[in-house]
Amino acid sequence: MEILIKNGKIINAGGSFKGDVLVRNGKIAAIGKGLDGKTASKTIDAGGLYVLPGAIDAHTHLEMAMGKTFSADGYESGTRAAACGGTTTVFDYTLQEKGKPMLEEIADRNRLAEPAACVDYAFHGGISEVNEARLNEVAEMAKQGFPSIKAYMTYAFGLDDKALFELLQRAAKEKVLITVHAESHGIVEANREEFKKEGLTDVWYHYLSRPEIAEEEADIRAVTLARAAGAPIYIVHLGNEAGAKYIAKARAEGIPVYAETCPHYLAFTNEVFKRPDGIRFICSPPMKGKESQIALWEGVSRGVIDTIATDHCPAQTFEKDWGKKDFTLAPCGVMGIENMYPYMLNAANKGMISFERAVALCSYNVAKIFGCDTKGAIEPGLDADIVLYDPKKEFTITVDKMHSNIDYTIYEGMKLKGYPVLTMSRGAVVYEDGEFKGEAGYGRLLRRKVSCAYDKY
Ligand code: URP
Ligand code: ZN
Ligand code: ZN
Repeated sequence: MEILIKNGKIINAGGSFKGDVLVRNGKIAAIGKGLDGKTASKTIDAGGLYVLPGAIDAHTHLEMAMGKTFSADGYESGTRAAACGGTTTVFDYTLQEKGKPMLEEIADRNRLAEPAACVDYAFHGGISEVNEARLNEVAEMAKQGFPSIKAYMTYAFGLDDKALFELLQRAAKEKVLITVHAESHGIVEANREEFKKEGLTDVWYHYLSRPEIAEEEADIRAVTLARAAGAPIYIVHLGNEAGAKYIAKARAEGIPVYAETCPHYLAFTNEVFKRPDGIRFICSPPMKGKESQIALWEGVSRGVIDTIATDHCPAQTFEKDWGKKDFTLAPCGVMGIENMYPYMLNAANKGMISFERAVALCSYNVAKIFGCDTKGAIEPGLDADIVLYDPKKEFTITVDKMHSNIDYTIYEGMKLKGYPVLTMSRGAVVYEDGEFKGEAGYGRLLRRKVSCAYDKY
């Protein structure tokens, strides 16, 4: 089956031009000017619209166990919302129960995802212990198409320095990319203990318990351990100025360190924790001061930030409210899976970054860094994961227009200039004009290749 998308402005990370895209059997068959659509069963007039590769969200936690609850979007509602925000691939993070192989955790998660996912999905491994069994599994992870593993430097399941160093060494040998949640366990835990003892438990203390320096310290240590191990490293959800500066310097020295930030660190500062609904914004790392927000935007426009991802891990209002009097009781995480691409494209539309850069951050770079060789660009041979974007459409984010399961959005009332009007996943229309058009179970598990982080090794 063929579809011809005519007269749109085709925007890739490397440049843009006005032309046509021919889709055949779920793949991009051709791009160019004046393509002949004689054999196409459908023609879409994209005049006045931009034709973009679907976004790839490299960081979600769907249906993830969080204390006495689960993150409130499962694989169906999460990927449904993704499709409606122009995201056509979602990377979910698995956790690892001690003693259980990472690949078994992935298989368990896939049993949930396979019948439910509305767009394509991938899994990062998760690791909470480093021993011979886990280290020996690293090679198999790569072999089976899961060449990325997340390590936490805090939380009960975090790794200490020795464990992280050993993991990085093995990852370098097997060409697996380690992604790191970088917050200093020592600083965070000592602060939390002290605040609890003194009854300082309102939402603002969530931020004070995990301040800028808690992230900076861990960023520096993570990069240093990676250097010592001869491994590349990917810092997830970077939220602080000093860490961004340190990473920029390390990269200038040729150290292969990659950085991801999230829309919530770009859109908000720690002021949100003073709002009456501040509890809704609890996530780790927390949003920091204005200086960090500015530094992250600089990184987004000037290069130290490689990718934007959402860390989508929402909880319902009643669950967040468990922490109203004691922030430590609130489930940690915010939403964003439907908002990432529209938010970054709005920034492009307002001239803060170029559209090419928005596509690089949200799609192309993610595909390269995480070894997806069928995604990330409007290019012949790749999957027809395509977004039509109307740069003139005015859109105000309100919860009733969102497509996930959550009863609020932290982006409520945000006005965007431009919005996706159609999303295609492997050639199938999964979203059009505000409505979800896809189906549960359509999404396929992606098995991936080696990260571009290993290109020069
Ligand atoms: O608060 C957050 N980010 N929750 C999800 C887990 C994580 O740390 O990425
Ligand atoms: Zn994290
Ligand atoms: Zn996360």
